[in-house]
Amino acid sequence: MSHTTLPPLPYDPTALPRETARHYIPATAQDLQAMLGALGLSQLDELFAHIPMPVRMIDPPGLPEELGYADLYQHVVAQSQKNCLPDITFLGDGLPHYRVPDLVPFVAGLRELMTAYTPYQPERSQGTLMTQWLYQCCLAMLTGFEAINASQYDRATALVEALYTAARLSRQGRTHFLLLGSLWPQDLEVVHTLLTGTRLTYEIVPIDPERGTVPLAVLEPQAVAQADRLAGIAFPQVNSLGCLEDVDGLTELAHRLGARAIVVTDPMLLATGGLKAPGTFGVEGEGADILVGEAQHLAIPPHYGGPGLGVFGMRYNATRQQDIRQAPGRFVGDAQDEAGRPAKVMVLSTREQHIRRHKATSNICTNQGFVATLAAAAILARGEEGMRQACMQARANALTAACRLLQVPGVSLAFPETPFWNAMVLALPCSSASLVETARQRRMHLGVDVSSRIPGSGGHHLLLSFSDLQEPEHLERLGALFAEAIGTPRAEAAVSLPEVPAAFRRRESVGLPTWDDKQLRAFFTSLSEQNISPDRTCYPLGSCTMKYNPYINEVAAALPGFAHLHPDAPLADAQGTLEVLYNIQEYFKAITGLPAVTTQPVAGAQGELVGLKMFQAYHRSRGDMQRDIVLIPHSAHGTNPATATMAGFETAQRGAETLSGVVEISAGPNGQIAMDHLHQLLDRYRGRIAGIMITNPNTSGVFERHFADIAALIHAEGGLVYMDGANMNAIAGWVNLSALGVDAVHNNNHKTWTIPHGGGGPGDAIVAVSERLAPFLPGVQVVHSGHGYTLQHPPQSIGSVHRHFGNVGHKIRAYTYLRALGREGVRRMSAVAVLAARYLHHRLKPHFPTLPQETSDSPRMHEFIITLPEATFETLEAAGISRARAIGPFGKLFLDFGYHAPTVSFPEAQGLMIEPTESYTKAELDRFADSIILMLHLVHAQPTILHTVPHFTPVDRIDDVSANKHVVVSARLTTLAQVLPNRIAPDQLAQMPLEAIAEAIRTASAAKLQGHR
Ligand SMILES: Cc1ncc(COP(=O)(O)O)c(C=O)c1O
Repeated sequence: MSHTTLPPLPYDPTALPRETARHYIPATAQDLQAMLGALGLSQLDELFAHIPMPVRMIDPPGLPEELGYADLYQHVVAQSQKNCLPDITFLGDGLPHYRVPDLVPFVAGLRELMTAYTPYQPERSQGTLMTQWLYQCCLAMLTGFEAINASQYDRATALVEALYTAARLSRQGRTHFLLLGSLWPQDLEVVHTLLTGTRLTYEIVPIDPERGTVPLAVLEPQAVAQADRLAGIAFPQVNSLGCLEDVDGLTELAHRLGARAIVVTDPMLLATGGLKAPGTFGVEGEGADILVGEAQHLAIPPHYGGPGLGVFGMRYNATRQQDIRQAPGRFVGDAQDEAGRPAKVMVLSTREQHIRRHKATSNICTNQGFVATLAAAAILARGEEGMRQACMQARANALTAACRLLQVPGVSLAFPETPFWNAMVLALPCSSASLVETARQRRMHLGVDVSSRIPGSGGHHLLLSFSDLQEPEHLERLGALFAEAIGTPRAEAAVSLPEVPAAFRRRESVGLPTWDDKQLRAFFTSLSEQNISPDRTCYPLGSCTMKYNPYINEVAAALPGFAHLHPDAPLADAQGTLEVLYNIQEYFKAITGLPAVTTQPVAGAQGELVGLKMFQAYHRSRGDMQRDIVLIPHSAHGTNPATATMAGFETAQRGAETLSGVVEISAGPNGQIAMDHLHQLLDRYRGRIAGIMITNPNTSGVFERHFADIAALIHAEGGLVYMDGANMNAIAGWVNLSALGVDAVHNNNHKTWTIPHGGGGPGDAIVAVSERLAPFLPGVQVVHSGHGYTLQHPPQSIGSVHRHFGNVGHKIRAYTYLRALGREGVRRMSAVAVLAARYLHHRLKPHFPTLPQETSDSPRMHEFIITLPEATFETLEAAGISRARAIGPFGKLFLDFGYHAPTVSFPEAQGLMIEPTESYTKAELDRFADSIILMLHLVHAQPTILHTVPHFTPVDRIDDVSANKHVVVSARLTTLAQVLPNRIAPDQLAQMPLEAIAEAIRTASAAKLQGHR
């Protein structure tokens, strides 16, 4: 491949050994041979010998040949250049593009923040916890809401969560909603998709075509007539036609009827000088009850529609103390460590799926954490004045453009009486679609043809959105285009624009603090040092696949050709991205062996929901309406039962008997599905089984040997088979999921396919399906024809689950990775991941029992579970540390050795689930194994160490009990918090002999114990 001159990479790849290793696997050929030899094997494929031949993939998946580093960089740059970016854009439509402060790419490059996992180990995650806390605080200040969660996927799914939340809050069991027809149609489609088949119902109240809003006079009688079942009214502040709704009147109406006021807002427009804060809506100023919004544009460019940042807020004040307990998602709260140091910790997690399973408030697990981090950085970088300027510049640009364009003969405001802020609909004397195309030819993305949103429009309506990105010359070019395409402006024509009433505007200032760029860079850098990254060393969180995330993926995703593309860009200008999406569809057909793929879901749990929604649609299409049971093994991840509930399979029980909904299947002593129990359940629920959800390899790291038989039994019963593919890192390229009998599977791209975890998200998912389910796929399929890449709706689609194309930025990352792997790499990746786990297990087995105990001889795939030896438990018990309280602190000992903890107490209460991945050398794995063995000796000899762990992190053990008793989830920001340093930094620990670490632990523990006395 010949190389044109490329921009220099922002790092030196040769200084990053994992980056330049083939397939990002740094283990040498000798390493691999030595590890295989230790297991008595000679070749990688022997690792899969126990998997039945009929379900094995014969040939490597048909991906293109792998690209070397330089060719890969060249390729992704060329691919991004196949998109045509305009010189000017007026696209927005709920996802505008603002100037991004320089601090944001700086923070995005802080690998310890970007690659870390969800902060379940708070002592090693204060960096992430603080950035997410800052996000909560900034958004609370802008919105006037006291509790903003640490993010939802996007605005559309946040709206769905708001409806569920309002229904839970309704004391009278109300489940009906009125949704204003002026909400974004894409969001309404997601609502429709996700509420179909559930007990929530809704009606859409149409827009008044004269006013561009939904008048209270129309809404009120409808609401009053349904008051006894009305759980909430959902309305936008700025609607999909750019018009401002009467938010006070709507809030007052909802409250008068005992329903919740759910507002959809744009936080950017709530800056000082902008629109009224939702926390003060209502005639009495009591505020709306639930807040939903999109904040992607506060932090990052459009990325063809995602990753988004769904804002979700609740009230949490003297009069509304309990509502927050019904909220979905994660909250970061104020806390202290045992020594009284200020700290942060996740609070209220007993609502979440990993604890409450089918009774959780939502199935969301991975959220959009890192976009929230970046949004906090962006807001703080702008500060009070910068936020005001961005908001007011957007407004000023809209007004300037309106004055100019309304002088063009025949052009008028579609809703001349209705106030707008920074987006407006023009009525044109020509077809809006043809004007959009004329503009495109002049490298201008003019706006969105919104004629279909206005009854009787006739194709003449165009929505233009404004931000702080347009310069005066852009507005001049806009005017010139109209003049040329429509007619010469009449300079003398008086233009009158509707005033924004004072009641719609913010009265008080937000009061955001102002710090300079240098201070903020130093602050975020020191926060990143409180975390650790899989860049450095093994990050052994089982089930989470914390592998190395290539730097080049980030470069690819940030290429302007990809990142600056708006999802409403004409398809002709989006061919580069569409080709990537098309190729991903093809690659995942090859990787899974299944015939169809959707790239729309944004996380594993959303993939599960897509799967179950398709199951419902399939059964409905066959008139098979009585299927109300989903079978899920006891060991499944909490998202599985939570998803089934959200899909509409709500569990009803009489005593211990499950009447409908989620039914648990027990595991046999070998940790696999108990076939006798499965047979009993098939008999008991004959004709009613909608499907089964099975994680494979399962959460014990064992391949479900009877998967294909189970699938055949379920199919014979008329049910369908969902495979939770969170563990695809173990089998990609080796197992054919069609042969296994899978109907739907999700791949977590933030596990197997190297998307960074971002301290909680954003994740991404790709769902592949069987022939049966292909017609029901969500969203659109990218198809290739003589006309390039175009879109096609699957014939019986369940509808969209994302307002656009999903987390496209992440698809670019996954694509870049897949091109580096190529045909050979997919198999090599999973084989080395399995080898690493099996080797590590082999090293630890003589010292630690395996769980489940009967499986100690079953071949492990990518992960394994160990526990402490009986003798150690007894020693600990003698020292006053019960079995139940030993494993958590033992996990924290890993922090003292410079590692992250493994997954503790899931799915086995006394288990440590370890997943090393393919990203480390044999020497690194050996040091890790030696460390774990030394930990065992340490606590065996001196059990009290478990009272004082961890010792070297910036804070001691966090007191999460009191953080959950007195929950504080936001505060007014005035000063930058003091960032505490590591007592011994992980880098330093990595250089220390293990015995020196052990000695330092003994000393630190003794000192702490003395201090405590
Ligand atoms: C086995 C399993 N299933 C499902 C999920 C949920 O995926 P996500 O967090 O991407 O929603 C996870 C996440 O950790 C998992 O480990």
